[in-house]
Amino acid sequence: MNKNTRRDFVKKSSATLLAGTLGFNIVKANPYKHKLNADTLKVGLIGCGGRGTGAALQATNAEDNVVLTAMADIFPDQIETSLKNLIAENPAKMMVDEDHKFSGFDAYKKVLASDVDVVLLATPPSFRPAHLAAAIEAGKHVFCEKPVAVDAPGIRSVLETAKKAKEKGLALMSGFCWRHDIPKIDTYNQMMGGEIGDMHTIYTTYNTGALWYKEPKAQVWTDTEMTMRNWLYYNWLSGDHIVEQAIHSIDLMSWAMGDVLPESAVGTGGRQSRTEEKYGNVFDHFSIIYDYGDGRRGFHICRQQEDCSRAYTVDAMGSHGRAYIDVFRKHYVNGKSGEWNWEGEKSNMYQNEHNTLFKSIRSGNPFFDGERMSNSTMLAIWGRMVAYTGKKLTWEEALHSEEVLGPNIDEYNWDLDWPLKAVAQPGKTPFV
Ligand SMILES: NC(=O)c1ccc[n+]([C@@H]2O[C@H](COP(=O)([O-])OP(=O)(O)OC[C@H]3O[C@@H](n4cnc5c(N)ncnc54)[C@H](O)[C@@H]3O)[C@@H](O)[C@H]2O)c1
Repeated sequence: MNKNTRRDFVKKSSATLLAGTLGFNIVKANPYKHKLNADTLKVGLIGCGGRGTGAALQATNAEDNVVLTAMADIFPDQIETSLKNLIAENPAKMMVDEDHKFSGFDAYKKVLASDVDVVLLATPPSFRPAHLAAAIEAGKHVFCEKPVAVDAPGIRSVLETAKKAKEKGLALMSGFCWRHDIPKIDTYNQMMGGEIGDMHTIYTTYNTGALWYKEPKAQVWTDTEMTMRNWLYYNWLSGDHIVEQAIHSIDLMSWAMGDVLPESAVGTGGRQSRTEEKYGNVFDHFSIIYDYGDGRRGFHICRQQEDCSRAYTVDAMGSHGRAYIDVFRKHYVNGKSGEWNWEGEKSNMYQNEHNTLFKSIRSGNPFFDGERMSNSTMLAIWGRMVAYTGKKLTWEEALHSEEVLGPNIDEYNWDLDWPLKAVAQPGKTPFV
């Protein structure tokens, strides 16, 4: 590992300074076209990576009078890349002046202090509870990517913040995007509307290959920068892949079960293929059984292992039939009325969720996802807990866990030396 510290390198205090040092181009002034008026909704983006950039585009496409005016990221180059891509897509809506590009760990505060009406939270999930609390405190409507936390204290914080959002009449939309996907909505309407009878078993998968890894730049990246750029592999930043990625399948399970909470969970997991030190401390596979306590069970498996069979599916079995979803390909129900396959024109679920969010803000009846997004995230965290410890745990035990995975938001700095916990070992790793 590269042992530079931030003191050996340059302070990342402004986009201009670092852009000059690293040689990337600051995006040139955008010839603003959109005419602002009293009703314009201004959007601030916090976390300018792949998803944040997508969310900014979808937010500004949601209706005519929405523009992006502020951006925050710990890395200035991420802001510049994101803005360049956004301007290429929709130049009139990208109205981010130089003095509204904020970098560093406190950049989110500057976006919140600017005159934005809506913020998009798309950093690694470890930051979400603190960023969300600050956004609601500042009176902003929020689009909040999944997962919304990485540990149970984070979830409890989000639940508290969600209550405040509701009291203040602020919109809170999560990034559980499949709930806005038309084929899923149509299939779930059948599945939950009695077509397959009483559903007793649901089996979900998220079995994929390896994800990206960013090779450290020798003598340039500090250890902290290396970790932050490869945040997926550190469970204190990502929550591990069951929380960061497979959570979508767990949310699909929860939706099918009417968002009722299971009573207990048990599971297993480990790290067999992706074992190199550069992959931090995350597992590469999990297998969890959620027991709803009334005869219903949810089975979930996920993996990130290269050259293995892939699957991203929902298989729901009921007293009178079965529904099967291959998330990108097939939506099938075989129930009381016979066989049915979804057919129709697909729409962009990411766009749908932003259309719904902005419509709800305009209507004065803001969309509110607070409790649901917290519960779906907690289901995945709970899965990680039972796999890491090897212990069967109830929902209440998991939700009241005192384990805090990462530092407090105000402790982050470029010399942060957060101790990497060893890869969990079922039966040895304690439940905290
Ligand atoms: N809903 C979906 O389908 C979907 C898809 C992809 C990602 N996501 C979620 O979106 C989030 C971001 O994922 P991504 O793929 O865009 O990752 P990414 O690495 O591309 O982007 C994350 C960005 O956040 C920045 N960042 C890190 N810490 C920050 C901080 N404290 N303050 C400000 N910026 C910070 C990073 O520098 C990076 O630019 C994750 O929670 C991920 O799970 C959701």
